[in-house]
Amino acid sequence: MKPFCRDTWVEVDLDAISANVASFRRHIPETTGIMAVVKADGYGHGAVHVGQEALRSGADSLAVAMLDEAVVLREAGITAPVLVLGYTPVDSVETASRLGIELTAYHADWIIQANERIEQAGAKPIGIHIKTDTGMGRLGVRTAEELLHVVRALEQSPFLDWTGIFTHFACADEEDTTHVRRQHQQFQELLAALREAGKTLPRVHCCNTAAAIVFPEWGYDTIRLGIGLYGLYPSPFLKQRAQVKLVPALSLKTRISHVKTAAEAMTVSYGATYTAKPGETIATLPIGYADGFSRSLSNRGFVLHEGRRSPIVGRVCMDQIMVRLNGASAKVGDEVVLYGRLGTEEISLDEVAELVGTINYEIPCMLNYRLPRVYRKDGKVSEVFHPLTMTHAPAQSVNN
Ligand SMILES: Cc1ncc(COP(=O)(O)O)c(C=O)c1O
Repeated sequence: MKPFCRDTWVEVDLDAISANVASFRRHIPETTGIMAVVKADGYGHGAVHVGQEALRSGADSLAVAMLDEAVVLREAGITAPVLVLGYTPVDSVETASRLGIELTAYHADWIIQANERIEQAGAKPIGIHIKTDTGMGRLGVRTAEELLHVVRALEQSPFLDWTGIFTHFACADEEDTTHVRRQHQQFQELLAALREAGKTLPRVHCCNTAAAIVFPEWGYDTIRLGIGLYGLYPSPFLKQRAQVKLVPALSLKTRISHVKTAAEAMTVSYGATYTAKPGETIATLPIGYADGFSRSLSNRGFVLHEGRRSPIVGRVCMDQIMVRLNGASAKVGDEVVLYGRLGTEEISLDEVAELVGTINYEIPCMLNYRLPRVYRKDGKVSEVFHPLTMTHAPAQSVNN
């Protein structure tokens, strides 16, 4: 039995994940670790599979945005350190304690309440990374006074261990480095204030992918590697500079479900926004906006079929799209690449992002639970996971 029925799937090349970790390993100082950021289900690639591959390839810890994402990693048997980068409601700290997950904190009241809850529950102490806000304006302590106040609260909390301190950059992917340099300066001043107050610093980290590419010397104890892990550059500017070689890990593929040749002028899809001329070959593909394939690609995007680009014609529907093919030889069941490479042609996530009017990060994150994930390792299918049916299929042929 096939592991999924609708012939549309996401393919994730775990060898690319491994190569990307290795590229950063070569680029950053030897003493700097790699924390693989697998939030948002590994930017749509699958947090568990990517996390496991990153750990096998040289990452030493993982990071997620929220505690529920960390629970998924533990339930899959991942025992490496996991840090929650975002806010955790204080009534969930026992879950973090039970699963040995590190949390982020930036407020003394939260620390006092978290300590009380763990003590009352008789649970194990948890590790805490303090978040500093040096110019992102999102989460974190902003001044040295606030920071020392939070550190003192931590020191008085026997059920919380101070294990890290970090900041996050807002503009590290831009050509103008004024803002990121100012943020780093501010971070250094906060660290200096801690040293002056006689504190021993725990794990220090500030670099996302962009900062790790441009300022590897700011790596401190670890970088937090997100988008680069997946083989994507954080901005067109950094892609053009290509200081670190990256291999995109994700492809999106489907198979033709219907082909017709217009005998006469024929309108296509909702709104009849495209009219095929007599003789045009129109194929229907089983993918739509309900899968996370943006409706903004209506009459704009492209797919690859038989090594050539074919335009999407008419509006993207909820579950289907139509494309105009070059040759009349197309048949039901032919493979079509929506994102990724086919021969020498490529539809990159950068190109799709530009057409949709967003950043490359958002494109894989939109691909949702309706799409099975096919994992490839050493050039072969290693596993299939279908989030819709919650089924795993080991190294099963998906006829591709
Ligand atoms: C706090 C934090 N650190 C690291 C990252 C990883 O960033 P990137 O994907 O740009 O490497 C993110 C992602 O947004 C983040 O929010």
